[in-house]
Amino acid sequence: MGYTQQLQVAEFAARKAGAVLRARFHEVHAVDEALAHDIKLRLDKETQALIEAELAAAYPDYAVLGEERADATADAATPRWVIDPIDGTVNYFYGIPIFCVSIALSVQGQTVLGCVYDPMQDECFTVVQGGAPCLNGKPICVSSRSRMADAVLFIGHGTHDGSGATGIARFAHISAQVRKIRILGSAALTLCYIAAGRFDAYIENRINLWDFAAARIILEAAGGCLEYTPTTADGLSGSVIAWNGKLPIHAALQLS
Ligand code: IPD
Ligand code: CA
Repeated sequence: MGYTQQLQVAEFAARKAGAVLRARFHEVHAVDEALAHDIKLRLDKETQALIEAELAAAYPDYAVLGEERADATADAATPRWVIDPIDGTVNYFYGIPIFCVSIALSVQGQTVLGCVYDPMQDECFTVVQGGAPCLNGKPICVSSRSRMADAVLFIGHGTHDGSGATGIARFAHISAQVRKIRILGSAALTLCYIAAGRFDAYIENRINLWDFAAARIILEAAGGCLEYTPTTADGLSGSVIAWNGKLPIHAALQLS
């Protein structure tokens, strides 16, 4: 596979960052910014810097688009790492051990690899373009559930004003149709759980590219689907519907 070496570097960086997050999990963390529905930690920035340093040591010419820092828009030919140093920062801050490190590589606008590492479970989800999606090196695939009545569905409660309310309205609409609804608090892990067949679908009306770039290629390689509708001019934020490729998710949402 063309990007196997880059995947190894991404996994090394994700595991190194994850080890720091695991070691520091029980600390009281410095808050850089507290918003109505979100928290930014000093550690978010420190973790991205650590990841960037590892990636740059191997690939000094690649650009970065990260939750905490991004290079000025490079030309499309320059490969770009898409990094979320802590996906699930609110969970992390509140001592809930559900969060991950997410790293993707985009080349000519196409994601060519994804690595999502959950340090608390020591679970690493990976894929390289054209290859098999894996969890700790073993192939994974989506569930075979095709009836909403059998499904466990995730709804995201977004960070931005209004997106939470939309999530609640969807919750009300769909909760009667499925076996269970969950809100995990990490978009990247949620998508990887669908890729691994643990759960079946996920909807959130406003997330950012770095939340799902790595997990998307893992999910799609595992047989799942993800529809992204940008809602900002820069294309970096939008709504996501992801599922195992078998559920009648649009009909259930009455979206078509
Ligand atoms: C958040 C998580 C959460 C989702 C939010 C994201 P962060 O990312 O993925 O599950 O509901 O929309 O912003 O802020 O923890 O990196
Ligand atoms: Ca995130």
